[in-house]
Amino acid sequence: MIIKACLFDLDGVLVDTARFHFLVWKQLADKLDFDFTETDNERLKGVSRMDSLEILLEIGNISATEEEKLNFAEEKNRIYLDFIRQMTPNDVLPGSREFLNELKSHGVFTGLGSASKNARLILEKTNLLSLFDAVVDGNLIRHAKPNPEVFALGAQMLRVESTECVVFEDAVAGIQAAHNAGMKCIGIGSAEILIEADLIFPGLMNLRISNLVFPDLASR
Ligand code: BG6
Ligand code: MG
Repeated sequence: MIIKACLFDLDGVLVDTARFHFLVWKQLADKLDFDFTETDNERLKGVSRMDSLEILLEIGNISATEEEKLNFAEEKNRIYLDFIRQMTPNDVLPGSREFLNELKSHGVFTGLGSASKNARLILEKTNLLSLFDAVVDGNLIRHAKPNPEVFALGAQMLRVESTECVVFEDAVAGIQAAHNAGMKCIGIGSAEILIEADLIFPGLMNLRISNLVFPDLASR
């Protein structure tokens, strides 16, 4: 495979914001008086804000009006933004900046494919924005992961074929989105959770472009 572009999820791959999302949803669950665990949280990863809220309410067996849902989502984002506004370049996960630079030095395009409407702010706060040739965030897409839209649009903006792209994801929904777009996907995180990924690494630390070798399907 000739890799012309690498498309990155943001939360949980390049920065540790997945932790902030969890903490703030947990606050809401506490307020609504039900238990919300890290295992439950896996279902929210990669999913849009409103879809995450729906899943959270389903876990708590809570029914809410549309107006209440909008208020919950707004409150969640307000508290989440307090975390984001304090981010600095030091909050980039180990190896991310180096790996993005490595790709650039090999002439591989870099794209962001995030469900977050706060993605640009995070890229600005962490000084990552200039390392991307294309940025697709939650404001540009209509369909959330596992729909392939976020990555298909990234490939289109970079003028590459989906078969020339590799996606980096920490969420099950994101891996499915990459595969639905016809792209290879590297899972970043635990092999037990990211079982559907084509390759899995614990993080981007020490990763080199030469490590991106996919097992031959025929020999599996
Ligand atoms: C994804 C996260 O990147 O963005 C989800 O994995 C989150 O957990 C989603 O819900 C939407 O983020 P935001 O910043 O628009 O609320
Ligand atoms: Mg993620």
